[in-house]
Amino acid sequence: MSRRFGTSRLECVEGDITRQDTGAIVNAANRSLLGGGGVDGAIHRAGGPEILAACRALRASAEYKGGLPTGEAVITPAGRLAARYVIHTVGPIWHGGSGGEAEQLASCYRSSLRVAEAHGLQSIAFPSISTGAYGYPLDQAAAVALSAVRGHLAAGSPLVLVRFVLFGAAALQVYETALEQLHPQPS
Ligand code: APR
Repeated sequence: MSRRFGTSRLECVEGDITRQDTGAIVNAANRSLLGGGGVDGAIHRAGGPEILAACRALRASAEYKGGLPTGEAVITPAGRLAARYVIHTVGPIWHGGSGGEAEQLASCYRSSLRVAEAHGLQSIAFPSISTGAYGYPLDQAAAVALSAVRGHLAAGSPLVLVRFVLFGAAALQVYETALEQLHPQPS
């Protein structure tokens, strides 16, 4: 399913984020930037040691010696991946929804889009950030994610394609339902 916002297209597909050939893929990282399980583990495994080396270099910098704050995004090369870059962002851990989780999650998407635009990319692929180990309810995360991306694209963006890559048919269905509710008219 896809929708057009401004001159950009937003689409939801089922698949594996590591296999996307968009300009960048987004990693659901943790504050350490030094790897983990889920998407993080899959990206480091598929992309190889170059990605971790670049993350370590970021951690050695003054700006990120304390780690990457929740909601922010950084970019590294993508090693062996089909994508050119990996944009690492740290989603909120779900604590029930009254701790600003929605705004932090929206910030992950907006920050990642800004980093992609700053690097002149035309396409980016997102996983469903925070909906695995971090426990964010999938339906609520989908609504926040799609709304944040639509708001960014509707204001005008050089990005031609923003792709949500969902792991499994059930997750895809949740995102497609949320997209339909957000923007009923197919375009
Ligand atoms: N492609 C696309 N989506 C994937 C893939 C994949 N290869 N693998 C997992 N997913 C989905 C999960 O099903 C989930 O819906 O990505 C979503 C995010 O799950 P996590 O990877 O667990 O990320 P998150 O919930 O943000 O937790 C981040 O987990 O892996 C660690 O280091 C990471 O500490 C960080 C935490």
